[in-house]
Amino acid sequence: MFSIPGGCPQTEIIYSSWNMTVGYVKKSDSNKERMLSPMTTILITGANGQLGSLILENLRSRIPVGQIIAGVRSVEQATFIREQEIEVRKVDYDLPETLNEAFRGISRLLLISSSHTDDNVRLSQHRRVIDAAKRSGVRHILYTGFAFSQRTTDQSKPDNVHTLTEQAIIESGLEYTFLRNALYIDFVGVLGLKEAISSGELVTAPGEWKFNSVGRRDLALAAAAVLAEEGAGNRIYELTAPQTWDFGDLAEVLTEVAGKPVVHRQDDGIQHWIYAFMSKLDTASTSGDLERLMGRPVTPLRDSILLFIV
Ligand SMILES: NC(=O)c1ccc[n+]([C@@H]2O[C@H](COP(=O)([O-])OP(=O)(O)OC[C@H]3O[C@@H](n4cnc5c(N)ncnc54)[C@H](OP(=O)(O)O)[C@@H]3O)[C@@H](O)[C@H]2O)c1
Repeated sequence: MFSIPGGCPQTEIIYSSWNMTVGYVKKSDSNKERMLSPMTTILITGANGQLGSLILENLRSRIPVGQIIAGVRSVEQATFIREQEIEVRKVDYDLPETLNEAFRGISRLLLISSSHTDDNVRLSQHRRVIDAAKRSGVRHILYTGFAFSQRTTDQSKPDNVHTLTEQAIIESGLEYTFLRNALYIDFVGVLGLKEAISSGELVTAPGEWKFNSVGRRDLALAAAAVLAEEGAGNRIYELTAPQTWDFGDLAEVLTEVAGKPVVHRQDDGIQHWIYAFMSKLDTASTSGDLERLMGRPVTPLRDSILLFIV
């Protein structure tokens, strides 16, 4: 929920995805609604992972640690979480007994999509988690899917793991929030940025590539903001940069960082799996949801790529 700039001081606007206004609430009521009840307990799955651990870090600065539980596949690897005084429970998507046990007493569950390489396995794992959440009395489930995945899916016969997982969540009857994440900016790591700086040329496969990509830090901040607000009802957020960038912009940023010219050149001899992968995604649609949730602009491209050129 966000204030309307210059709007009626007694009301706030509620946004959902696609920047559509879905309603207004009275400000005084909304403030009360927003505060997380001290009775609410939040479990985050995949908490040992890169996104999960960043969400934990952000969440613990917003709500008492006693309300946060980290769900991890390997409790042995979760020492860094225990050191933050966060309770750790074993959550293995392949072991239903761990799910039943871990979800006891949980009111909100953030399901971080599985990192398994087979989408059929991922879907079965997600369905197992959703079933266990329902059985255990979880009230609200949040799911990290992929931004604008609907646009690349035939809605009459969806075959995309994220769309199918979202469908399973809707069918479960639980309250839901879909956090549809953009393609992580990490993909630039396979583009040969260091080589581009040395040679003065960023060489990519031909195409009208446009990217709404952002880093996990921004996505984690937005996820924590959503988790820390009580908020009833079902919501969908498309968590992307508000404007796209392209390889020409990337070459300009490399030029600035390197302090020497780097130009962009397309070459149809470039063969890399990343292009086939990206061509199946909608990386060009944008939304203001991420910035609104973060309450600040997305991290600039220049800052996001530094990690990949050192
Ligand atoms: N938007 C994008 O561009 C993009 C790119 C890549 C991936 N993703 C998706 O986003 C998710 C989160 O990203 P990330 O960077 O945090 O990935 P990550 O660092 O690989 O973390 C994934 C987490 O999932 C856990 N996990 C895997 N299988 C599990 C199982 N059977 N039961 C319970 N937990 C399991 C892993 O546990 P362990 O620590 O025990 O391995 C790990 O902690 C990924 O899992 C993937 O679905 C999105």
